[in-house]
This record gives sequence, C-alpha cells and structure tokens, in this order.
Amino acid sequence: MDAHDMGKDLEKVLLTQEQIEDRLTEMAAQVDADYAGKDLLLVGVLRGAVMVMADLSRRLHLPVQMDWMAVSSYGSGTKSSGVVRILKDLDTDLHGRDVLIVEDIIDSGLTLSWLLSNLRSRGPASVEIAALLRKPEAAKVPVDVRYVGFDIPTEFVVGYGLDYAERYRNLPFVGTLAPHVYGG
Ligand code: XMP
Ligand code: MG
Repeated sequence: MDAHDMGKDLEKVLLTQEQIEDRLTEMAAQVDADYAGKDLLLVGVLRGAVMVMADLSRRLHLPVQMDWMAVSSYGSGTKSSGVVRILKDLDTDLHGRDVLIVEDIIDSGLTLSWLLSNLRSRGPASVEIAALLRKPEAAKVPVDVRYVGFDIPTEFVVGYGLDYAERYRNLPFVGTLAPHVYGG
C-alpha cells in the first residue's frame, strides 16, 4: 500500500469524526452524572483505545486518573479464544477504586469479560465498561457494557484507534477497507 495516501485504501466511512465526537460528548455527560463525587479511574486498553480515551476523557468535567493495560488474546486466526495474557499491567492499586474500562470495540466480548473478572478480583469498589463500538456478536456473551457509543454491523473496521496490521489507527473516523488492501 501507499503509506502516504490512506484515502484510496478505504471502501466507506461508517462513522464520521463529527458523529464520533458528538456521541463521546453524550457519553461523557453520562459518566459525569454517574460518577459525581467519586474518584474515578479510567483504564484504557492499549493500543486501540488511545483515541477514545483521549477524546472521552477531555469531555469529562470530573477529575479522573488514567492508567493503561495491554493484553493479548490467544486464539486461532482472527477469533479471540477468551484466553488472555497481560502484556502490560496497571500501575494503580484498584482496592476501593471506581474503575471504568475504556475500549475501542467489543466483538466476541471474550477479551472484555476476561478483563472484567480480572479487575474485579482486585478489590475495586466498582468496575464498568465504556466502548465506542459494539458488534452484534457481543450480544452472545453476558458482558454488561454500561456505555456503548455505536452498534455497528459485523464488518472489519479501522480508524480512530483501530488498525489493520498496525495501520490506519490515525484516521479520525471509522471506516472499512477496500478489498485490495487485504490482497483481494
Ligand atoms: P473480542 O474478545 O471482543 O475482541 O472478540 C475484541 C478485540 O478484537 C479486535 N477487533 C477489531 N479490531 N477492527 C479492528 O481493528 C475490527 O473491526 C475489530 N473487531 C475486533 C480489537 O482488538 C478488540 O479489542
Ligand atoms: Mg487490533
């Protein structure tokens, strides 16, 4: 691919920058209301959640702390298995804390359900999830996601933190890739 022109690799724009930002403003207002008077810790899941974390957190009026985790899902091919390995753990002690996990996308939900029980085992006061995107598959897994930005179809999407082979994360919108990118 031509690394200097991402535009021609795209098939369509699913969510514009404006749509994403408007929705994050609404989500931030909900978080502000729900955690008023609390000492909230945002936990971003690297690397995809970087943009959501940056734009959601800057819309909050609450003073929050932020920490980051990196995990990898073991699985065959493109499906996650639910077996997760921590590549980078939190630096923050979760004991008694109100924690909000910030994620880019929930697909099968296996990664997040593992993360949820892992963080809940550390003695926090509460753990909830905010995800920008959710695919229909996620409905099969009993993960309670408190804040969801958009329900999207079962399509592979890139942009706004989401990658294909580590590229396209810096697109300011969410879109799908043209078949030629996948070698089609
Ligand atoms: P689960 O366990 O919910 O895994 O199946 C979610 C993780 O899978 C990745 N994922 C995607 N990444 N475009 C991406 O760039 C997509 O359409 C997509 N769907 C799933 C992502 O890493 C997420 O954290
Ligand atoms: Mg990825």
